[in-house]
Amino acid sequence: MVSKQQAASPFLKWAGGKTQLLHELENHIPTFQNYFEPFLGGGALFFRLAAKKANFRARLSDLNAELVNAYKVVKNDPDELIDWLARYETAYAQDRRTFYYSLRNKAPNGVVQRAARLIALNKTCYNGLYRVNSAGAFNVPIGRYKNPSICNAVQLLNASTALRSTKAAISTSDYAAALSSAEKGDFVYLDPPFVPLSRTSNFVSYTQQGFTLDDQARLAKVFQMLHKKGCKVLLSNSDTPLARELYSGFDQFRIRASRAISCKGESRTGYKELLVRNFIP
Ligand SMILES: C[S@@+](CC[C@H](N)C(=O)[O-])C[C@H]1O[C@@H](n2cnc3c(N)ncnc32)[C@H](O)[C@@H]1O
Repeated sequence: MVSKQQAASPFLKWAGGKTQLLHELENHIPTFQNYFEPFLGGGALFFRLAAKKANFRARLSDLNAELVNAYKVVKNDPDELIDWLARYETAYAQDRRTFYYSLRNKAPNGVVQRAARLIALNKTCYNGLYRVNSAGAFNVPIGRYKNPSICNAVQLLNASTALRSTKAAISTSDYAAALSSAEKGDFVYLDPPFVPLSRTSNFVSYTQQGFTLDDQARLAKVFQMLHKKGCKVLLSNSDTPLARELYSGFDQFRIRASRAISCKGESRTGYKELLVRNFIP
């Protein structure tokens, strides 16, 4: 088990990353042996659970192959990753813009270099966002940070310990395929790209495919299927009429949360979130 203080996501504010929401989620944790997080992103809840509970197995997945590659490298090869990130930290300190845009334009082949690129961009890009264009190329501009921690060796080693101590199986997968092996008693946390709060709030491009309203309805059916199997399912989404309707048969909790999804500070802090669960903790 890693200490609570040290266990944290190696990704800065992965779009949808948690702050207050994480505290709220902790009120909704059941007993379990197997944990599924199929919209992994920054894995905020996984790292919190790993800090609190030693004996569980994790199945972690996401449709974003670059992100999944980075998690595998954090788990299996943290030392080489740290070497690359230390080099990037030095290069960034010398000339931020040149470093950022030349790294953004690169497409390295090696798994460790790919992971280092993703983490360095995540720590130095605008608002810690992940966004790709229609060709799948990362297109977030440089962010304004005083002193970003590109190479946080302690955090990476602790993340690696959390992934190894939970024997994390890490895969690139659509959530429905990833959940086909979930069984009775398993705990599943679903944190999909949110239902847009308005027509103009449409930031859902974590992946080339996006996440449509049809996808939200498909997810609600998977939630039902997991419920019938006897899995313990917790879901977070934006608090919208559609989300409330899709999960109308289950316990719902409306909370105020702070998500890193908007460039406007006030809309980040005032964001309303819906938690849905099918079990009593
Ligand atoms: C809201 S973020 C998850 C945030 C995460 N819980 C955290 O703590 O940072 C949503 C994630 O879902 C992934 N995603 C989008 N569509 C998906 C799909 N069909 N299957 C699996 N993952 C998907 C995105 O790549 C993104 O990482």
